[in-house]
Amino acid sequence: MTQPIVDIRNLSHIYMQGTPLEHRALDDVTLQVAEGECMAVIGHTGSGKSTLIQHLNGLIRPQSGTVIINGLDVSQPKVDIKSLRRQVGLVFQNPEDQLFEKLVGDDVAYGPFKMGLPLEEVRRRVHWAMELVGLSFQEMKDRPTFALSGGQKRKVALAGVLALQPKVLVLDEPTAGLDPLSRKELLERIRHLNREENLTVIFVSHNMEEVAQLADRVYVMANGKAVCDGSPRQIFGNEELLRQHHIGTPESVDILYRLRTEGYSINPESYLPEEAACEILKILKR
Ligand SMILES: Nc1ncnc2c1ncn2[C@@H]1O[C@H](COP(=O)(O)OP(=O)(O)OP(=O)(O)O)[C@@H](O)[C@H]1O
Ligand SMILES: [Mg+2]
Repeated sequence: MTQPIVDIRNLSHIYMQGTPLEHRALDDVTLQVAEGECMAVIGHTGSGKSTLIQHLNGLIRPQSGTVIINGLDVSQPKVDIKSLRRQVGLVFQNPEDQLFEKLVGDDVAYGPFKMGLPLEEVRRRVHWAMELVGLSFQEMKDRPTFALSGGQKRKVALAGVLALQPKVLVLDEPTAGLDPLSRKELLERIRHLNREENLTVIFVSHNMEEVAQLADRVYVMANGKAVCDGSPRQIFGNEELLRQHHIGTPESVDILYRLRTEGYSINPESYLPEEAACEILKILKR
């Protein structure tokens, strides 16, 4: 990989160190992400996914190991955190923790405003980012943030991060709490930003359909450690690994696994719905 935009090496993190509640959430994690890649981080609840990605914009500083983002060494106490946060936009697992202005428009404007951009440019970016996540600028900009639904809050948090025009977008369960249409639209927008605008995307998800649809690469975590790292084809084709680490599979893969258990021969690396349909048709034609 030529000069990864995200370069994490031997990263460990212990919460509440030195207390009876001490917990090792990350254990010697190494991960590189290339510019323009779309990477999914998956793993059971408590496996360390959120802890890992909070290192990417300096919310958590490395206790041991290194985190280098686009040449900025987050492990250095003197690292320019402002510059880091302009480059890495992070949307939290609970987006309400991220909204603090009274009005939606002000909240989305907060980051670009703090960057010192001219007001015209701030307004242009707020308009662009809100429409991009599917919030009408005209209808929503003066709405109070406290009165939004969970899904709307998630969209506002995402717009606030996109308005910074980061190089790396980090999303912690981006579609949790969204209805199927909003989920589909948001995934299409993320895919567009990744494929067309060359935005590097790292997202955490428990939704395997989403992972299959979006990710170029899947990074599997268990108990604070990296278990494996591969293409969706390699990961979803490895039934044993998924079972062992209590990771679900996309429905299309589930069907193929069941057919295999029944004795049918199927291509173990099919994982997309169209591919599963082809495998089923092949069986029906026999
Ligand atoms: N602030 C904290 N203080 C103490 N322990 C924590 C803290 N945050 C997380 N942990 C613990 O660290 C471990 C990893 O947590 P983390 O939130 O990174 O998991 P996760 O993989 O994101 O889980 P989920 O899928 O449920 O979001 C868990 O056992 C959790 O209880
Ligand atoms: Mg989490």
